[in-house]
Amino acid sequence: MDFTFSDRMAGMNGTATREIFKLLSRPEIISFAGGLPATEALPIQAIRDISAELLGRADAYKLLQYGTTEGYPQLAEEIGKLVREFGVTVQDRSNVLVISGGQQGIDLMCKSLLNKGDTVLVEDPTYLAALQIFNSYEARVVGMRSAADGIDLQDMEEKIKLHKPKLMYLVPTFSNPTGKTYTAENRKGIARMTAQYGVPVLEDDPYARLRFSGEKVDALYSFAQDDNVVYMASFSKILSPGLRVGGIVGNASLIRKMAIGKQGTDLHTSSLAQMITAEYCRRGLLQPSVQASLPLYRTRKEAMMQAISRYMPQEFVHTDPEGGLFIWGEFAGCDIDTAALLPQAVQRNVAYIQGQVFYADGRGRNTIRLNYSNASCEQIEIGIKALGQFFKEVLHNR
Ligand SMILES: Cc1ncc(COP(=O)(O)O)c(C=O)c1O
Repeated sequence: MDFTFSDRMAGMNGTATREIFKLLSRPEIISFAGGLPATEALPIQAIRDISAELLGRADAYKLLQYGTTEGYPQLAEEIGKLVREFGVTVQDRSNVLVISGGQQGIDLMCKSLLNKGDTVLVEDPTYLAALQIFNSYEARVVGMRSAADGIDLQDMEEKIKLHKPKLMYLVPTFSNPTGKTYTAENRKGIARMTAQYGVPVLEDDPYARLRFSGEKVDALYSFAQDDNVVYMASFSKILSPGLRVGGIVGNASLIRKMAIGKQGTDLHTSSLAQMITAEYCRRGLLQPSVQASLPLYRTRKEAMMQAISRYMPQEFVHTDPEGGLFIWGEFAGCDIDTAALLPQAVQRNVAYIQGQVFYADGRGRNTIRLNYSNASCEQIEIGIKALGQFFKEVLHNR
């Protein structure tokens, strides 16, 4: 049958990239395309022990039973404790919603706030899968100019005045895709301006705990001058993406709307996953396991930085993140199309993500995102060497 798809899905094609990603499962391919936490950082034994103990208790049925949409109270409490570390204070239980990962939080925020044609302001470039959600709500996505210290505030103000956005979406700490972190000053400016113009902001913060160098910066939420900022945390990058657990903190009436939206999506986040996550936190295991993973991330990032300086063409200018999972680079002044070149790179057994997909308006043809968390230092050396040789040939033969 030829299905007639909804207007909201019309602009959403799987893209050629998905076809290429099928090839990435070939063992000889070194992929810097993903965004997975290190396999070594997944605490298998602890989760095994906790699961066995919880399932051995007299009230084990609770793990396998329906729960409330708002989430398991002990988990909401643990989320409240965790976010406090970044200056995010939870007034009341009605300010927290447990979500099935940050991806769901973005979706619920859109479901609650956006009508067709509404404008969402994002940093250019921003998280690809958020752009896909905005498109599925038929929103108009407008990119704001990125600056070294965060967002260009002048550009932000002009775009707020011009587009009257219904939502602003930001990843201010170790951004996906750039790895960049906004300064406290820039966050203050964003907080002031969005409060002044009454713009709701979703602060998506899955990476803040993965800091392996530099000084901690408090969440944008902590600088908020109104309750227009909503803060979102996820356990995906610090515990396990497979558990699908996160939390969102903000204005109670907005949280309530999102909970109603969540009922229609999945009723509630997996009881089993919530209780395992809450118990992992309650036992004080999260902080030490994240700490223990940081040297691995630092080492891999440094291995990639060194390989880049050794092998990539000198036109390649790139970020040097203090945490998170990604390095972002641009072939400065080069008219190349990294999307069109990707299949050839994959033929040489190395993969990246073309940067263009992270832009609201399809710019960034000469940019790429590289992930360093899920490859060994040896693979990073071999993969970046192959990539460097490839791009040197491309630039030479133009
Ligand atoms: C910025 C950002 N937000 C949200 C997500 C989704 O994560 P999850 O739904 O696993 O919490 C990711 C995953 O890569 C991300 O990078």
